[in-house]
Amino acid sequence: MTAGWDQGAAEFARWARQLWQPLAVPLIEAARLSPGDRVFDACCGTGASALLAAQAVGADGQVDAVDASAGMIDQAKSAAVPEQLDFRVADALTWPGSGYHAVLCGFGIFFLGDQSAALASLADRLAPGGRIALSVWQGRPFDALTRLVLAACAAEGAGVGGPSAEAKNIGELNSPSKLTDFLRGAGLREVAVAAVRHRVPLTPDSAWSFVHSSLLRSALPADPAALARVKARLAGSLGGVELQADALIGSARR
Ligand SMILES: C[S@@+](CC[C@H](N)C(=O)[O-])C[C@H]1O[C@@H](n2cnc3c(N)ncnc32)[C@H](O)[C@@H]1O
Repeated sequence: MTAGWDQGAAEFARWARQLWQPLAVPLIEAARLSPGDRVFDACCGTGASALLAAQAVGADGQVDAVDASAGMIDQAKSAAVPEQLDFRVADALTWPGSGYHAVLCGFGIFFLGDQSAALASLADRLAPGGRIALSVWQGRPFDALTRLVLAACAAEGAGVGGPSAEAKNIGELNSPSKLTDFLRGAGLREVAVAAVRHRVPLTPDSAWSFVHSSLLRSALPADPAALARVKARLAGSLGGVELQADALIGSARR
């Protein structure tokens, strides 16, 4: 799984401005950070939320931002990193830090196996009264583009097998009521969930770039000629499809 993120890391970073940074803004607002806070950012990717958190906590604060993919962390470190922000390659579930004022997890909980166990592990890192903020996808993320990509791949005999464990996890948290129940079920209090509508117009080039930045890349055929045909087929079928990236931001207090 990490290999998939490593391969897509450079392309993922290219989506920061249009996708990951705008969606990190409400996540950071929900965390209600203060100057001097200590923050754990689990599954930090290329650092969209960690950088905003570092600004919010200031030079007296500390942000430990952890991702299992070395490629993602390399991308994160390629930008200017303030001193209070520490990017590390590590598994979010075994990271030893604790006593944080806030824990962030932006679109990462799906990749942590049993999501209830993962939430319990993340919440355990909080000091009493600390706040957790996580973002998940609302509805069926990237649905229209995914269908077109899979149709273009199917014509080459390529594609994905059955739904992945991650896709199943995404479906378990993709509505306000599911996310509310999830947070309450972990014994957290002051649970709040906000919906964020986020759409990005797609061109043939940007759609192809998004596929390569995401785990959808695993559906593509390896043969270069087949890959070129998939690209052409996708470009021809794209029409006015936009990237559907509506999110839910959940927050709660320990
Ligand atoms: C969709 S990206 C989210 C990136 C970032 N939070 C953002 O919003 O821009 C999911 C990230 O989870 C990371 N990841 C998956 N499993 C992980 C684990 N066990 N521990 C830490 N990171 C993990 C992947 O490497 C990937 O960078």
